[in-house]
Amino acid sequence: MTDTPNAAFKPRIFSGIQPSGGLTLGNYLGALKRFVEKQDEGIETIYCLVDMHAITVWQDPERLRRQTREGAAAFIAAGIDPARSILFNQSQVSAHAELAWIFNCVARMGWMGRMTQWKDKTAGKNAEAASLGLFAYPALMAADILVYHATMVPVGEDQKQHLELTRDIAIKFNNDYKVDFFPVTEPVIEGEATRVMSLRDGTKKMSKSDPSDQSRINLTDDADTIAAKIRKAKTDPEPLPETLEGLRDRPEARNLVNIYAALSGMTAAQVVAENAGAQFGTFKPKLAELAVAKLGPITAEMNRLLQDPAEIDRILGQGADRAEAIARPILDKVYDIVGMIRSRGSRG
Ligand code: AMP
Ligand code: TRP
Repeated sequence: MTDTPNAAFKPRIFSGIQPSGGLTLGNYLGALKRFVEKQDEGIETIYCLVDMHAITVWQDPERLRRQTREGAAAFIAAGIDPARSILFNQSQVSAHAELAWIFNCVARMGWMGRMTQWKDKTAGKNAEAASLGLFAYPALMAADILVYHATMVPVGEDQKQHLELTRDIAIKFNNDYKVDFFPVTEPVIEGEATRVMSLRDGTKKMSKSDPSDQSRINLTDDADTIAAKIRKAKTDPEPLPETLEGLRDRPEARNLVNIYAALSGMTAAQVVAENAGAQFGTFKPKLAELAVAKLGPITAEMNRLLQDPAEIDRILGQGADRAEAIARPILDKVYDIVGMIRSRGSRG
């Protein structure tokens, strides 16, 4: 926590997901499901398909378009109501890119170089060949959030460091320009599945970019595929223990328990207590049944929505109009604070 008076800012949630592939169970439990909960708590919520982040690594244009629509369909199918939440794709609101440029001039090279995501993505490869956008990625992310004066950002565990950088950028901007303009945003990392792990390796995050499709459950997988992937998930030969303590050095087992907990709304401790002594031969089919029951209706609704891409585009366009109406006045004020002449008036 900080001393900066965030009380001056009204509670507003922003979060984003990259349309760089199909969404996974990790995205659903770590992000989407919680985006819906926040919306249903009645807080103002703004959700974004961050297509400009996606192109920091190569994206085939047709696939990017398809994945952006798929992402939007997943949000709506999971329970995001475009009348209550603002839902749009990032590139339609140019204020993000404009503020990102200013933040490129606030953030320091050293800060960016310390980002573990940057280090992971360039590890063992030629960092010289990575795009400049990949390096600057966290400044665009800070702009996504701060261009709305968002106070809270629900994300999975892997985004914690990027959110700390967002806070550093807000604080440095406020200090450099001697203003109290940007809020110091709070990460909201909560629930039983803030870090869903690969089904093949309990030490690796479940990711849409993992080369092995067996490592993840995709929101587009059908019931048989989900059941087969869970059946084949890596585990150990021990039965489930009596308490969570017994899962300490069993990352694969712990992961399946966490997934069960997050899908059922139980705590991991309750799941273990209820299944103490069970073999994975019994627990896995139970988990598969639960996963199919929860994800099946979402997949079906996504497929229905994707029949009408024009309607999805219309929803994204309307969301972008509403987002722009919030972002533009904030950005105009930033230009003024920084000392840019704006003699053409505000152009929305
Ligand atoms: P990305 O797919 O990297 O754009 O991530 C979008 C959101 O999903 C972010 O809030 C991530 O933290 C979250 N997320 C991605 N993968 C996982 C995972 N394996 N477990 C939990 N949350 C995740
Ligand atoms: N970097 C995030 C991810 O890969 C996506 C993202 C971009 C984001 N801008 C954001 C998340 C703003 C939260 C808020 O998961």
